Parts: sequence; C-alpha cells; structure tokens
Amino acid sequence: MTPPKQTYTYDIRNSLSKNLFRGFWRMMTGFRHYYFIAVLMLAGSALMNTSSFLLVRHFVDNILPTGDVARLAPFVGLGFVLLAGGQGLFSFLSGRFASKTAEGLALRLRDAMYDHIQRLSFTYHDNMQTGELLSRATSDLDAIRRFFSEQAIGVGRILLLFTINFIAIAFLNIQLALISIIVVPFIAGLSFFFFGRISRLYEHLQEQEAKVATTLQENLSGVRVVKAFNRQDYERVKFDKEIFEHYRRGRGFLVMHALFWPLSDVLVFGQIIGGYFVGATLVINGTLSIGSYLAYVSLLGQLINPMRNLGRLIVDMSTGVVSYKRMMEVIGQEQESLVDGSHKPDGDLHGDIVFKDVSFQYNADTPVLYDVDFSVKAGQSVALLGSTGSGKTSVVSLIPRFYDYTSGSITIDGIELRDIPRGYLRGQVGVVEQEPFLFSRTIRDNITFSVSREVSEEEVIAAAKAAAVHDVIMTFPDGYNTLVGERGVTLSGGQKQRVVLARALLKNPRILILDDATSSVDSETEDEIRQALLRLMKGRTSFIIAHRIQTVMHADLILVFDKGRIVQRGNHNQLMREEGIYRQIFDLQSRIDEEVEKEATDVLGLPV
Ligand code: CTP
Ligand code: MG
Repeated sequence: MTPPKQTYTYDIRNSLSKNLFRGFWRMMTGFRHYYFIAVLMLAGSALMNTSSFLLVRHFVDNILPTGDVARLAPFVGLGFVLLAGGQGLFSFLSGRFASKTAEGLALRLRDAMYDHIQRLSFTYHDNMQTGELLSRATSDLDAIRRFFSEQAIGVGRILLLFTINFIAIAFLNIQLALISIIVVPFIAGLSFFFFGRISRLYEHLQEQEAKVATTLQENLSGVRVVKAFNRQDYERVKFDKEIFEHYRRGRGFLVMHALFWPLSDVLVFGQIIGGYFVGATLVINGTLSIGSYLAYVSLLGQLINPMRNLGRLIVDMSTGVVSYKRMMEVIGQEQESLVDGSHKPDGDLHGDIVFKDVSFQYNADTPVLYDVDFSVKAGQSVALLGSTGSGKTSVVSLIPRFYDYTSGSITIDGIELRDIPRGYLRGQVGVVEQEPFLFSRTIRDNITFSVSREVSEEEVIAAAKAAAVHDVIMTFPDGYNTLVGERGVTLSGGQKQRVVLARALLKNPRILILDDATSSVDSETEDEIRQALLRLMKGRTSFIIAHRIQTVMHADLILVFDKGRIVQRGNHNQLMREEGIYRQIFDLQSRIDEEVEKEATDVLGLPV
C-alpha cells in the first residue's frame, strides 16, 4: 500500500509553536475531520448509554406500577438490545476514526522527522549525538502518537460524557445534579498540581533515556574496540550507571503516579457515596421516584468516572507535551538548503577553483584554517600534504559546501561558492571521505549509491576496475551481490576504500576529492589505482590528500599544510629544491624505503 498523500504534503515545521495547543492543532492539519468524527461517534455511543439508564427509570416508574409488564416487557427488552447494539457500533466507529487520526499523524511525523534529520547541517550532526536523535525519533514520537490516540480523544470523550450525563441527571433532579459535581474543582486542582510535577519528572526520564540510547549505540558501534581492549567490564559499569539512573528516575515518575491515584480515588468515592446518600434522602422525602434513583445511581457513575479519568489524562498529557517540545527542538533546527544561492550554472561546471584568503572555523573559538590562498585550473590536480590535524580535510570539505567558510572567498569558474546551490554543487563533486562508510547493502548498491539514474552493469564494472576492486569482487561467491557489513561478508579496510572509490568514480564528477583514499591500500595496488586515476582525472579537477610522497608527487600543485596554513607550495621538482617539510618527508620516506629494502636483502635474503 502506498502511504496517504497528506503524509508528504504537510510541512511539519508549520507545527512549531510556543503555544502547545496551537502546535497540536496545526499538527492535526488534514486529520481534524477524522478526529471530530471520532468524537461525534463517541457522543452517539454515550447518548445510547445514557438513554438505557433513562429507560430503566421509565420501566420502574411507569411500566411496573401499571401491572401490564407481560405485554410491555418485550418492547423494553428490545429497546435495551437496540441501545446496546447502537452503543457498540458507535464505539467501534469512534475507535476506527481515532486510530486513523493517531496512526496517520504518527506516520506523517515519523516521515517528516526522518526527512528533516537528514537535511540538517553537517555542523548540527557534528554536535548532536546519534542516540539523542534516535530517542527523539522513537520514544518521543511514540508519546505524541499516544497523545493523539488516547489523550486527545479521551478529552473529547470526557467532556461529552460529563455534559450528557450532567444534563440527564439535571433532567431527573436539578438539585441532585449540582450536588454531584461538587468534587469537580477539587479533582481539577489536584490534577494540575500533579501535572507540573509529573511532566518535570518525565522530562528528566526522557533525558536519561536519550543518554541510555547514546551509550548503547556508541557501545554497539564500537564493539570491536571494546573487545580488543578487553573493556567489557568497564563498559558494563558505565552502562549500568546510566540504566540505574534511568531506573531511579522511572521509579520516581511512577511513584508520583501512584500517589495521584489514591488521592483522586478518595475524592471520587467520597463524591459517589455522598451522591447516593443525598439521592436516598430525596427518595425517602418523596421528592425522587425509585426509578429516578436507580437511573441516578448509574448516571452518577457515568459522570464521575470520566472525572477520574480526566485526572489521569491531564497527568498523561504531560508526557505528550514534554515529547512535543523535545521533538520540536529538532524540527526547529534550520535545514541546510540545497537550492539556496542565486547562481546555478547551466550544465556542468568547468572546474577552475580559486581560494582567496580563506579562513574557517568549526566553532566560535578555534580557527582551523588561516588565509588559505591558491588557485587551480580545470583539469589540474592538487595534492594536500601535512601532519595530522593540519586542516587538509577541512579545506576540501569547503568545496562541496559541507561547511561554509568564515571569511575570504572561494570561486568556481568565477562564481562565488556561496552563490552556487548546494544541491547542484554536490552533484558536481565526487568525494571519497577519509573514513569510508558502506551501507549494509550489496556491493552493487553501494557503488551505484552515488547516482540516482539507472546504471548499466558495464558502468559498474568499469568503475570497479578503475578502483582496482573488480577482481577482488569477482572472488566473492556472490560477486557484486555480496552483502557488505553486518549481515554479509565484511570487507577488509583496503577493499572498503576501493569500493568507496568506485562509488565516487561511477558518478563521473567534474571535481574529485580523494581524502586519504588509498591509505589502506598496499603500494602495488595503489600504483594500479594511480594509473587508472591518472586516466580518469584527465579533464577534471582533483584534490588528493595523502601521506605518501609517491601518491602526491605527480600532482600539478602540491600544498603543504601546517597548523591550518599553507607553508609550502609548488610541484614536486620545485619543492625538492626548497628547504622545508616537503623535502624532510621525502628524505624520511626514502630512507625508510631504503632500510626496508636493505633489511629484506640482508637479513632475509630476499630480493625486493
Ligand atoms: N576539527 C573540528 N571539528 C570537526 C573536524 C575537525 O574542530 N568537525 C578540527 C580538528 O580538531 C583539527 C582541525 O579541525 O584540529 C583540522 O582538522 P582536519 O582538517 O580534519 O585535519 P587533517 O589535516 O585532515 O588531519 P588528518 O591528516 O588527521 O586527517
Ligand atoms: Mg583528514
């Protein structure tokens, strides 16, 4: 079944409001009529119910005394059956529409939340923990679903039952009706008193739940590290601490609930007994008929029980309210626009890139790039070299606008980068990230992930060959259909890197960014990839980050970074003539190579 249209056409950000009622009301857009039908059906059901008590009264007061019971009893019996049947039918319909409202809203919310989360900025995801987002998208969302399926309908139901039964009692005896609702303000007061307390406790509980989710998620992602360092006990203690805190807060929350119930019960039962007593007195005085009294006893239950439930509802609503706030905190975050920027070039980019005095910082206090200044012609290659943390990844992250630079200017084909829409730009750039990530899907799905169009088998194979991974894939029993990751054959680090490389190559981008893309590949394979890349990089601008001189020496421009600044620039020959980091690295690496060679021949007697 395809999801209903309103799942996608409503922008969930419209539900943002400081005023909770307005927020919930807006959230119900497209579902309000179902909600009202549900409440209306409830009214029908309540009316049938109340009528059956009035029928009791009629039977006792008007039919029994006539002595004509034998003739009329079947009609009365039929009346009861019809009322009960009607009540059942209405109640079923009400439930049906209520679930349509609540589940429909939950479906839309889940969808919107998921879509929203994946459109938030890189910076947001850098700072937000996955477990925190997970708990908002699951546990909080469920509390909102319950709010609509139980509490929102419940409120309508209670108000209706109260009104209908109050009118029915007033019809029997007005004085009795007024006495029967003395307890209402007390229950309302008590509920509001607990509402504040319980919502605070619930908020604390949800915060802790997010912490537990984060700990669990991190622990599962890092399970290899935990096992490798034998830190299971340590992790367990850490987790125990979090879940114990969860237990403690959960207990506090339930104790508050447990306190509320007996208190409200005392009030409710006091009211009922008082009501019975006053009613009985009226009967003895002769003001009230026996039939009316019988009807009253039932109606009073119907009037007061909802009051009792109102308390529960108000208290339960606090969870929905807290969860709404927590979800809206995420929804309120600005999405990263993919269509911003006034200048969308027609067709593909050429690829001339100019950095001019670019500075950048991830957060307010620590700049990571200072005055980065270089230019590259379309089709040329730039290599970035430098110690760890010197800012290489940061420089290339600016090109697809993963982050926006703080000052200076970057232009592509003469257009300021900020003016080029992110969506278009990212379509032109292929990135192999420093930490390769593969989805738990087949190898083919992972390679074709980079493009949205249909891809032929030949294209996939060509990309895999260029990344020197085709032969490896063919050794797997399922070939390109091999499942990667958790459920399938897990690839080695180097294989993973090459699959990711194939993914970027398949896209055939104008600008190619390879961040340490061959770090886990042996030198022979790297050579193979380099040859393929040299062919592929023709005509496109490419950025290569690597630690081995051999990988970067063929680049048209080599930039050496240190602490966020370019400290050396030029091609291999130029840099070799200069004193500086580049030659130091070159000497060091050649010395290591020589030593390895020497050791191999001297000690092991192996030719290299
Ligand atoms: N940094 C940060 N927030 C991020 C990523 C990086 O504050 N989301 C900081 C790091 O702490 C580092 C600086 O930015 O001090 C530069 O990081 P990066 O550009 O990733 O360094 P690289 O040169 O790529 O280092 P490596 O060789 O280790 O990949
Ligand atoms: Mg890096």
